[in-house]
Amino acid sequence: MSDTASALGAAAERREGPDKVTGSARYAAEHTPEGCAYAWPVPATVARGEVTGIDDAAALALPGVVGVLSHLNAPRLAEPDDATLAVLRDARVPHRGWYVALVVADSLEAAREGAGAVRVTYAEEPHDVTLRAGHPDAYVPEDTDGTSGEHVRGDAEGAFARAPAHVDATYRVPPLHNHPMEPHAATARWQDGHLTVHDSSQGTTTVRNVLAGLFALPRDHVTVISEHVGGGFGCKGTPRPHVVLAALAARVTGRPVKLVLPRRQLATVVGHRSPTLHRVRLGAEADGTLTSVIHEVTAHTSRVKEFVETATAATRVMYASPHGRTTQRVLALDVPSPSWMRAPGEAPGMYALESAMDELASSLGIDPVELRLRNDTRTEPDSSLPFSSRHLAECLREGARRFGWSARDPRPRSHAEGPVLVGSGVASATYPVLVSPSRASAHALPDGSFVVRINATDIGTGARTVLAQIAADTLGAPLERVRTDIGSSDLPAAPLAGGSSGTASWGWAVHEACTELAALLSARRGAPLPPEGLSATADTAGTADADSDFSRHSFGAHFAEVGVDTVTGEVRVRRLLGVYAAGRILNPHTARSQFIGGMTMGLGMALTEGSTMDAAFGDFAECDLAAYHVPAHADVPAIEAHWIDEEDPHLNPMGSKGIGEIGIVGTAAAIGNAVHHATGVRLRELPLTPDRVL
Ligand code: MOS
Repeated sequence: MSDTASALGAAAERREGPDKVTGSARYAAEHTPEGCAYAWPVPATVARGEVTGIDDAAALALPGVVGVLSHLNAPRLAEPDDATLAVLRDARVPHRGWYVALVVADSLEAAREGAGAVRVTYAEEPHDVTLRAGHPDAYVPEDTDGTSGEHVRGDAEGAFARAPAHVDATYRVPPLHNHPMEPHAATARWQDGHLTVHDSSQGTTTVRNVLAGLFALPRDHVTVISEHVGGGFGCKGTPRPHVVLAALAARVTGRPVKLVLPRRQLATVVGHRSPTLHRVRLGAEADGTLTSVIHEVTAHTSRVKEFVETATAATRVMYASPHGRTTQRVLALDVPSPSWMRAPGEAPGMYALESAMDELASSLGIDPVELRLRNDTRTEPDSSLPFSSRHLAECLREGARRFGWSARDPRPRSHAEGPVLVGSGVASATYPVLVSPSRASAHALPDGSFVVRINATDIGTGARTVLAQIAADTLGAPLERVRTDIGSSDLPAAPLAGGSSGTASWGWAVHEACTELAALLSARRGAPLPPEGLSATADTAGTADADSDFSRHSFGAHFAEVGVDTVTGEVRVRRLLGVYAAGRILNPHTARSQFIGGMTMGLGMALTEGSTMDAAFGDFAECDLAAYHVPAHADVPAIEAHWIDEEDPHLNPMGSKGIGEIGIVGTAAAIGNAVHHATGVRLRELPLTPDRVL
């Protein structure tokens, strides 16, 4: 079977690609059952207070409006673990944009008009939405998984004070919004006590479990389907209020109900990256050897629940240093609830650390690549565990070679092309290896084909394709004979597509099921299969856990070249190049797309993306794609993504590390460092928009 040996590691084409480009792929909002009604939420217009009255008479008088739900009349659901899902339960308004009512109508237009006609009165209270360093209410959150809290090593302050070379700098990353192309959408219907929902989610097993809990149903009475997802970036990682509201409205009206969140409401109800205030102190010897690394971060959270943007986590794994301290703080404000977004924690944290490393290199006159090489380590500084594999140095060297780093004049402001100052910068990247237990089943059919069933989710990554590759490789079967059924909670339970953990988590279970199936087949010695075929199942609970005697992380190096227009203040990225060491690359085609996608997000973080909290209004000023600028094609240069083949036996049966998020992690710092090299000016607040640059 010569065509099977290469299934894993082959540049297989994405299986759903033709469906997507021809428009035949169906997304959550594109299912319209017979008799479907439409829902439109009513957001609170105060930042803190209580609802004192809801006048729905005008809304109900509109043609097509079926009903208005609020805490006054909505059926009481069980209390959710995630308080952001406690919708229409009480009169409390914890932040502006919190949903206070829901209008259901025969058409989308009538629902929207009805939502505008609902009159809500409030008892308003003073609010505070402004994140400040040193706020007396900021606290160090409990560190449940090693990514948060305070970690002290040695005498961090003393070593910093004694060090001959210092950096002491503050950085700020603004609130950032996920804004996937496809807004959150759910179409829910009840039939004979069974709830079926088409949702746009990164993981429908959790959505199913949460809905079953809220509506007090056995889990097998709920089916949640996410066949295709138009981007998630973290804000679809767990259920969001829209799916609860759709199911609730369908139950109340007895009709299928579709709810597509308007883009302008996404900023407040589906999460955002908390702003982070950083203070980084680096102490070093004259040769650049770090002696102390101190990273303090303050992030905000809402009054609804604690979410921590774990921006000190990466600092604990990056560089050798005998002394160090990382301190994470959060401050609860009257803001919308933050959540996961695009390398949560690592992306803002590494922006600060890698900018500070560049400042240290500049002040010591050491090449910034060389500075990082001098502080490389074989053991994780914080835990002292050995790395299962760490090829940061190789990424830096290979990136420098490919980028042409040695030809760089290290002096800032040394290269001008007319009014445009040109510079280049480098930054390191890291992302943890995460994995969760999963189930899967594998079936051999009498016609010689195979079906793998698992509730994995394809958020645009090519999950179907790579899981088929893992199955084909394990079974020794041609890739085209393997079908993968994913995207429904009726399939074997699986964790979400998030934390760059999907392929590792799902692939492990697929590998186990297929290994078992291959053994069953081999025991038959070629005897024909029964009409129903043969099946095997796997559950990696207890096998695929996060504990290890090793510190497991991906590493990478980012190189950027920028042009800074001294007349307009505009920063253009001319080149971006990343080199990654992320275990075995299972599909170079889809892997390259993920790396490039991540780097594009990092470019957005560096130059265009950022939200502003309006202190008086108590809400984000940017609520649509006209005000919140994701990079457009014209902003993005040719991006190069490369990798170093890495064999690591301490990961999973495929030998792979996550690749979805590491591309984001160091890119903003590399671009910021390039802007410093171009201009000689150190900017410490993102994004690097013309008003800051001039
Ligand atoms: Mo991603 S922010 O881990 O969904």
